[in-house]
Amino acid sequence: MIYAPTPSWQAALGAIARGEEQTPRAMPAGFYNDPNVLDFEIEHLFLNGWLCVGRADEVPQPGDYFTLEMLGEPLVITRDKDNQVRVLSNVCRHRGSIIMKGSGNSAKFTCPYHKWTYALDGKLMAAPLMDESTGLDTKACALPSFRTAEWMGYVFVNLDGKAEDFADSVQGINPYVKNYHNEEMLTVQAGPEHWPVNWKLLAENFLEGYHLTPVHLNTLHPMCPTKLCEKVEGGPGFTGYKAHYSDNFEGRAPFHPDTTEEERNLSMMVWIYPGFVAAFSPNSTVFMSITPTGPDSLQTRWGVAAHKDTFESGEAQQRYDFAGSFNAEDKERLVDVHKGLSTTRYSGRGHLAPADYEGTIWDFYQYVAKRLPIESARKEQ
Ligand code: FES
Ligand SMILES: [Fe+2]
Repeated sequence: MIYAPTPSWQAALGAIARGEEQTPRAMPAGFYNDPNVLDFEIEHLFLNGWLCVGRADEVPQPGDYFTLEMLGEPLVITRDKDNQVRVLSNVCRHRGSIIMKGSGNSAKFTCPYHKWTYALDGKLMAAPLMDESTGLDTKACALPSFRTAEWMGYVFVNLDGKAEDFADSVQGINPYVKNYHNEEMLTVQAGPEHWPVNWKLLAENFLEGYHLTPVHLNTLHPMCPTKLCEKVEGGPGFTGYKAHYSDNFEGRAPFHPDTTEEERNLSMMVWIYPGFVAAFSPNSTVFMSITPTGPDSLQTRWGVAAHKDTFESGEAQQRYDFAGSFNAEDKERLVDVHKGLSTTRYSGRGHLAPADYEGTIWDFYQYVAKRLPIESARKEQ
């Protein structure tokens, strides 16, 4: 049997890091299905990166909370008595039980196992029957509070505390999205979903316009067809493109008064690396926070935030339902792609479409190539 040997993803990344790849091409299939890639990604993209856990308005009052697991780390997202949004470890300091489940409002977090009780800022308030003779230092038993950053109403967390400054890394994307004022929008609905595909396939798919017309012929194509996509320049922590609306598309009122005429007639597609993708439309935003749960599976905590005047009419809910329908179209395609990547005749390295359509994927590869310290790949010719 003769077929092209599959180049290694390490060699391809190394060539990209050295600037030797002249023609933008898809990565070798192994980039998406080799279990070893995941270890690199978790260490060099996710643990030291910024991951979106949701929106600040999902916990509007002190004591509001919701739980979320990311990269195997159980988290509780809450608002403390000083009105500060916090992301706490949801693991009891006594013997490791998970503390809170689901979402709600609570004045304190009590572990169901032996009833150690924590304040909203994580401090240990009570530990039954543990008097001073046990030597328990309550100050040392606070739930760890992760480093967070709030951006346009979205809450990001850095799990290892060593990420570069969030504001610096996304600075270049702000001019494209600030006028939509997502910090004034309200979350319609958000929650986690699990897909049986590699996480990069979904992130890349969300951020390329090449598939809009063929995959979303009756949903997104009438609004923002492939041929009107226009890439913007990426930066160290992001990439994006403008999905311009067709002339005969009505647009999406109500608009924030700060938006320009152009901004009222496009969806700004944004990817904040590694896993936050969003479509900023004039009156609503579809957002996703994608993390791997294995080489062949992902979690996406996705939702919709909308202008407050779209709720009463039911339009906000319609936006969410609409996102659900085009997400389903994407999922069907990506399950097929994931399967195709593990076949003998597909070696990867298919040519990418021009920058306006798939240039964002090429930007993403550059970002990964810079962050993965693959010594062998850097030397490989
Ligand atoms: S494990 Fe939480 S109180 Fe014992
Ligand atoms: Fe899509």
